[in-house]
Amino acid sequence: MTALHPQPRAGVLEIEAYVPGKSSAPGVAKVFKLSSNETPLGPSPRAIAAYKSVAAHLGDYPDGAASELREAIGRAFGLDADRIVCGAGSDDLLNLLARAYLADGDEAIHTTHGFLVYPIATRGTGAHPVVAPETDYTASVDAILAAVTKKTKVVFLANPNNPTGTYISFAEVKRLHRGLPGNVLLVLDAAYAEYVKRNDYESGIELVATNDNVVMTRTFSKIHGLAALRLGWMFGPSHVVAAVNRIRGPFNVNAPAIAAGIAAIEDVAHQERAREHNVHWLAWLKDEIEKLGLKVTPSVANFLLIHFPPTKGRTAKEADAFLTARGLILRQVGAYKLSNALRMSVGTEEANRLLVDALGEFFGRAA
Ligand SMILES: Cc1ncc(COP(=O)(O)O)c(C=O)c1O
Repeated sequence: MTALHPQPRAGVLEIEAYVPGKSSAPGVAKVFKLSSNETPLGPSPRAIAAYKSVAAHLGDYPDGAASELREAIGRAFGLDADRIVCGAGSDDLLNLLARAYLADGDEAIHTTHGFLVYPIATRGTGAHPVVAPETDYTASVDAILAAVTKKTKVVFLANPNNPTGTYISFAEVKRLHRGLPGNVLLVLDAAYAEYVKRNDYESGIELVATNDNVVMTRTFSKIHGLAALRLGWMFGPSHVVAAVNRIRGPFNVNAPAIAAGIAAIEDVAHQERAREHNVHWLAWLKDEIEKLGLKVTPSVANFLLIHFPPTKGRTAKEADAFLTARGLILRQVGAYKLSNALRMSVGTEEANRLLVDALGEFFGRAA
C-alpha cells in the first residue's frame, strides 16, 4: 500500500525518544537539580566573561573550523589540533560518527546500561543496535567481543559509563581493541574522564594516537560546566576526522561556545576545584547512603547509581516522588533497564546533605 505521507527511513520510528532529566519540581521554592550530571560549581568565571565578550559580535558567523578552540584543546592535552573535531555537544559527534560509519543493515554494539544516545544514533542510520550484557553494572570486554559479527561496524563504549558510573581499566580497553577487526570503529566516549582518579584508567588518547580505528569523544558539559552551550570534541585518526568534517554542519559550533570553551580549558585551577569537590562528596554520599541500607554502585564519575528495594513504599519510583516534593530532583533510569534505581549527580554540600537527610526520612517513614 502506498503511504499517504512521507515516511522516515527504516529504524527511525523504532527509536525511543531520549527523555532528559527533569529540571523542575512543581510548587517547590528551592530546587536542587541532581538529574543531569552537571557540575555544582558551574563554569569558570573566565568562561562566563569570554561568553559575554562575544555578545557584540552576534551578527558574525563563527569560525566554522573552530581553529582556536581546537588549538587550545591541543595545547591542553598535547594533541595535534588537526586531529580534533569540535561539535555541538559530544552528542553531535556521536551522531556524526554513526552517520559516517553506519548504514542500513549494519550493527553497532553498546552495553546493557550504556548511554542511550548510542542506540538512538545507530537506529537513525538504519543500522541495528546490538546489546552486549554487562557484569556487575560494568562493561564486559568478553561479552562485547562475543557480540561482534561480520555486520559490526562500530562499538560504542562510555568509559566511565553513564548511568552506572563504572569503568574498565586501560588494560581492558586495549584487550577490547585487540579483539576487534580492523574495520570496526571503537568509539571511546570519555565524557567523565576528568573526574576519574584511578591509576589504571586512561581516557583513550594513547589508543587513538597509535591506531587507525579508535576515536575518543569528550565534552564541555560536565567538569567545565558549559552544558547549555552544547560543546564537545573528538580526537581521531586523520581519516576519521576527514570523514566527520565532510558531513558535519559547516558552523556546528557557535561563537560564544568557542570563546567560553577556550577560557574553560585554560582554567586548570577551576577544573581542579571541581575535581576535589567531587572526590570528597562522591565518597561521602556513597558512605552515607550505604549507611541507610541501600546499595550504591561504585562510581568514578560525578554521579551515583542508588538501588532501591522492591518493597512497596520503598521503591525508586516512590523515593523519587518523595525527594522531588522536597526539591531534590534525581534521574529515573528505567529507560536504562534500571527501573529500581535512581541516579544522582554529586551536588553542592547543601544539596548532598539535604539528599541524605531526605532519604533517611523516606526510609524512616516507610519503616
Ligand atoms: C556518557 C555520555 N556521553 C555523552 C554525553 C553527551 O554530552 P554532551 O552532548 O552534553 O557533550 C553524556 C551526557 O550526559 C554522557 O553521559
